Amino acid sequence: MSDLARTAQQYDAGDPLAGLRALFVLDDGVYLDGNSLGALPRSVPGRVEDVVRRQWGALKIRSWDESGWWTAPERIGDRIAPLVGAAAGQIVVGDSTSVNVLKALVGAVRLVDDARDEIVVDATTFPTDGYIAESAARLTGRTLRPVRPAEVPAALSGRTAAVLLNHVDYRTGRLHDLPSLTAAVHAAGAIAVWDLCHSAGALPVGLDEHGVDLAVGCTYKYLNGGPGSPAYLYVRRELQDRFDSPLPGWNSHAEPFGMREDYEPAAGALRGRVGTPDILSMLALEAALEVWDGVSIDAVRTKSLALTDFFLECVRAYVPEGRVESLTPVRHEERGSQVALRCSPDAGDVMKRLIERGVVGDFRRPDVLRFGFTPLYVGFADVERAARVLAEELR
Ligand SMILES: Cc1ncc(COP(=O)(O)O)c(C=O)c1O
Repeated sequence: MSDLARTAQQYDAGDPLAGLRALFVLDDGVYLDGNSLGALPRSVPGRVEDVVRRQWGALKIRSWDESGWWTAPERIGDRIAPLVGAAAGQIVVGDSTSVNVLKALVGAVRLVDDARDEIVVDATTFPTDGYIAESAARLTGRTLRPVRPAEVPAALSGRTAAVLLNHVDYRTGRLHDLPSLTAAVHAAGAIAVWDLCHSAGALPVGLDEHGVDLAVGCTYKYLNGGPGSPAYLYVRRELQDRFDSPLPGWNSHAEPFGMREDYEPAAGALRGRVGTPDILSMLALEAALEVWDGVSIDAVRTKSLALTDFFLECVRAYVPEGRVESLTPVRHEERGSQVALRCSPDAGDVMKRLIERGVVGDFRRPDVLRFGFTPLYVGFADVERAARVLAEELR
């Protein structure tokens, strides 16, 4: 056994979160793709079975009330809230991240005056945010200005209406400075909108503490909600009365069963709802969130950094010099919960071979190997094995 394998055993033995792994369905491989699709929590299949057979099959329409279907978007939003540093009553679950980006961005522009004619968007963003931002700009008659996150403070002015940023870059795993960027956006009098897809469930976000205005995120990565599980929208409490959604559906009406011709928005976060929620996915997510009972996000962050530090150490020790280059920042303040390695010219083939050998990460064009570290179920022995198998494939 190598020194690093022994170190991994010691780290696993002292890991306060190690017991959580048993809450997930995992095989004997190494799963490092929880930044794309989280693993299945054991509590989910039984709950889905109950929702389908009893709540839907037996109770049928009664379940909207008796099984709490109608209030699920707010209830599950409140379950996510502490994970992203939000007090209750500010998050609703529903729709995809893309749809919530549209709600948030158009809603943001409608909060400021017409003289502010620019929307700033992260130029390195996950594509969907860029496409939606472009449409939001057309819908609101604003100009879209793509800017790299580090250059955002210099790009802000009295013309800026809203700024859409990613907390963690999906490709490189770089963590952007949410507190200082939000403060800069506010100093310019604009609205800060954050995409938390790659940070929620992996590190503390502090939405309330840092005065974020609006935020969106998915639940199928570090929150393990399942494929296509619904996303969420955060609207800071002080803005809720003025939040004017571009998708005012009957579910966000003050009186949804009044069947009125005129639209009157509901109070609070549920103003972010649109139409009938996707109950099966939503209640699968609710069951998945039970793994967080008693888990502190600070402990998750501590382990996440230890896992990525250890992976980088193992890669340095095992992988032949010059074969990969880490795109993920070394400084903890700048690192999310993934490591991205540039591997030219054969990253796609290398990842295929890793997956055949039970080490599952993913490949992002043109030359990036991505490895996501979900502290709830990834251990240090997994990390050492992944780096060792990678090195064998690269030799
Ligand atoms: C940063 C970011 N935003 C948005 C999305 C996807 O949005 P949607 O849930 O609409 O598919 C992803 C998906 O990986 C993402 O990484």
